[in-house]
Amino acid sequence: MSQVDRRREHLIETYRKKAKHYDLTSRLYPVPGYPQRAQRLRTVQALGLRAGDTVVDMACGTGLNFSLLEKAIGPGGRIIGVDLTDAMLAHAQDRVEANGWSNVSLVQSDAAGFDFPAEVNAILSTYALSQVPECAEVIAHGAAALSEGGRWAVLDLKVPDNTPRWLTQLGTATVRPFAWIDEWVMRRPWAAIRAAMLEELADFSWTELFFGTAFLAAGSRRPGNPGARPQGSGDQ
Ligand SMILES: C[S@@+](CC[C@H](N)C(=O)[O-])C[C@H]1O[C@@H](n2cnc3c(N)ncnc32)[C@H](O)[C@@H]1O
Repeated sequence: MSQVDRRREHLIETYRKKAKHYDLTSRLYPVPGYPQRAQRLRTVQALGLRAGDTVVDMACGTGLNFSLLEKAIGPGGRIIGVDLTDAMLAHAQDRVEANGWSNVSLVQSDAAGFDFPAEVNAILSTYALSQVPECAEVIAHGAAALSEGGRWAVLDLKVPDNTPRWLTQLGTATVRPFAWIDEWVMRRPWAAIRAAMLEELADFSWTELFFGTAFLAAGSRRPGNPGARPQGSGDQ
């Protein structure tokens, strides 16, 4: 098994364990009282959704964004929820059934390999894309699938700028035993997400939230972009 496959298996195992209580425990994420709901709402608003729109929720987990999305797109719209972990999707399915939503499709897929349907009106990813090593590719593939004027928004955590190293280490120590945190801090995925969105989208905006511990990055499909940057063309 390659290192990439091992990492993926480990991630699935981790989220399988978390899935059952995710809706509850995520309220404590990253710390109790964190304004997660307000951040989700801002992210959905950044998409400028209209009734009837199709939206992809990338790494949707148990579907905590779905009710906000449903409010914006109505029963004539469509949500496509994508996630790597079967158990997280099973809880998303429970949510869909409990709410009687008939316009949600759930797809088990790695974000990196997901084949975005053409002409989606919006894509969002919340508290997830920084865990995907191929986040820049995912942003590019999504951007190529957007309809004219379509929007991409990413909400995720980051380390505040100018945080002294000792403070970062103290912060990460509190969330151990998640060993991947150290790798995440070193990798600075928010910088890669920012660069990829700047490269791929128009009207790019970057907003730091809650003392720089999170960011909301958003942008629109470039006008006239044929959306046909061939995957793996190396045309960057
Ligand atoms: C912290 S949860 C966030 C879930 C949801 N977006 C939310 O806001 O509550 C991270 C999710 O990302 C998913 N995930 C991680 N890596 C992924 C990948 N490479 N492709 C698809 N989903 C992935 C996990 O299975 C998990 O459901």
